Parts: sequence; C-alpha cells; structure tokens
Amino acid sequence: MEVIIRPDTNAACELVSALIAQEVRKRPHLVLGLATGRTMENVYERLAKCHREEDLDFSLTRTYNLDEYIGIAPEDPNSYRFYMNKHLFNKINIDLRNTHLPNGFAEDVDRECELYEESISRAGGIDLQLLGIGRSGHIGFNEPLSALQSRTRAKSLTPVTIEQNSPLFDPPESMPRRAVTMGVGTILEAKRVITLVTGKEKAEILAKAVEGPVTSMISASALQLHPHCTVIVDEEAAELLQGREYYDWIFKTEPEWEEFR
Ligand code: GLP
Repeated sequence: MEVIIRPDTNAACELVSALIAQEVRKRPHLVLGLATGRTMENVYERLAKCHREEDLDFSLTRTYNLDEYIGIAPEDPNSYRFYMNKHLFNKINIDLRNTHLPNGFAEDVDRECELYEESISRAGGIDLQLLGIGRSGHIGFNEPLSALQSRTRAKSLTPVTIEQNSPLFDPPESMPRRAVTMGVGTILEAKRVITLVTGKEKAEILAKAVEGPVTSMISASALQLHPHCTVIVDEEAAELLQGREYYDWIFKTEPEWEEFR
C-alpha cells in the first residue's frame, strides 16, 4: 500500500482523476470499478472536463459500480444509477450498455448478486477499482464484520451509515436499510485499487484502516492485503497518520510519481 498526501481536497481529487485518465488512455478497453458518495463528485467533474477539453475517450471503457440500494428503482434520483448517470456517464462518451450497477430492484436479489459476479468475470475482472471509505470503515457497503473473502451480496446498513447518507434522501427516513454490494473479496481481486479519502471527519477511520490491524470490523483495513493499492488523501484526512514522513518520502522520490509531483 502507498499513501499519498496532497495539500487539499482539490489536489487529492486532481491526482485521482489524472491517474484514472492515464489508465483510460493506456487501455481503451479498461474495466473500471466505480464508487459513489460526495467525495467522488469532484473526481467525476474532472474526468468529464478531461473528456470535454482533452478528448479523453471512454467509448470502449466498461464500468462496474460497487453497490446499489435495495428497493430503489434505477430512475429514482436517490439511486446510485441516477447518481452515476448525472455525475459522470451523461457527461462523457461512454456507451451506457457498458456501464453496470447491481440492480437493487431485482426480484431475486441473491440471483442478481451471482449474475453481477459472473458479469465481472466475463469482462476479465476489474483493472482499476476506485474506492472511498465510509465513516463506519466500509468500502462499498461492506459494513463491520463483512467477511474478508465476501462476494457480491445483500448487506444491512449500520446506523452510522444511515446517519451519514440519509441527509441525501428526501425525506431522510426513506433511505433504504439494505444494499447490494461487491464483497471485500471481489474488491481485493481488482488488479489495481485507488482509494480517495478527504476531510477531517475521516481522519480517525483512515488511520485505523491504513495503520491499524487488518480486521473485518473495518473492511477498508483489508486493503492492506492488496498488492497494488494507492490511498490518496488530503491534509485533513491525514492528520492522525503516524508514518507520514515515509509516505511523503515515497511521493518525493519514487519515479512512478515524478510526473504527478
Ligand atoms: C457510501 C458508498 C461508499 C462511499 C462512502 C463514502 O455509502 N457506499 O462507496 O465510499 O459511502 O461516502 P462519502 O464520499 O459521501 O463520504
């Protein structure tokens, strides 16, 4: 795992979008794993700008989102499908048929989860997975005690997550209590993972996830097991990290980061 600390949220989001753009340019058929949440809106805005102003071409890109609420139709403004269309897909030249999210409205949710896993495998697996971290330490909607080998499945949301996300719903009580999410095991199979964490309210959970023990109580800590995971954070989120001197040294000296410094 590498941790890259950028001076502020914009700089962190700029680095994440630059890394994604680099992969999209390198590999037109890239299979991109995507995340939702407030943190990602800034990144998607930048990617849309790269498409508009620098001809970043998504015409052959395939995407798989981490999760979707159960019981919400795709056209519902609170669905993650709606979020993705609004913040990214409608602003770039992606073929919507190449964009995938679990269907939270499926009659047979377990079957939907199996089909989602099969679809990812048929695409050849995820090349680059973008992640955020929830205040409960979740990646996707893998709440505490999610098995580290879990696959796509339905999960009950914690009170912390409901408190975090319900303000986005109108009325807040209409937020579903369950979601379909890729499993921790599914996420760990991505060839590369980029995790973006910003803001001081994430400082404590970030320090636990990155520098604490690997535990199913904090599913983001499982990223320590991934062979190619980069965690990009702003100063506020980095506040409680113990090893920052070394992290800064890596960013300053490793040739991989030269073009982004
Ligand atoms: C949501 C999503 C996660 C996301 C996280 C952070 O619940 N399921 O994939 O990373 O919470 O959200 P935010 O960026 O709004 O803090």
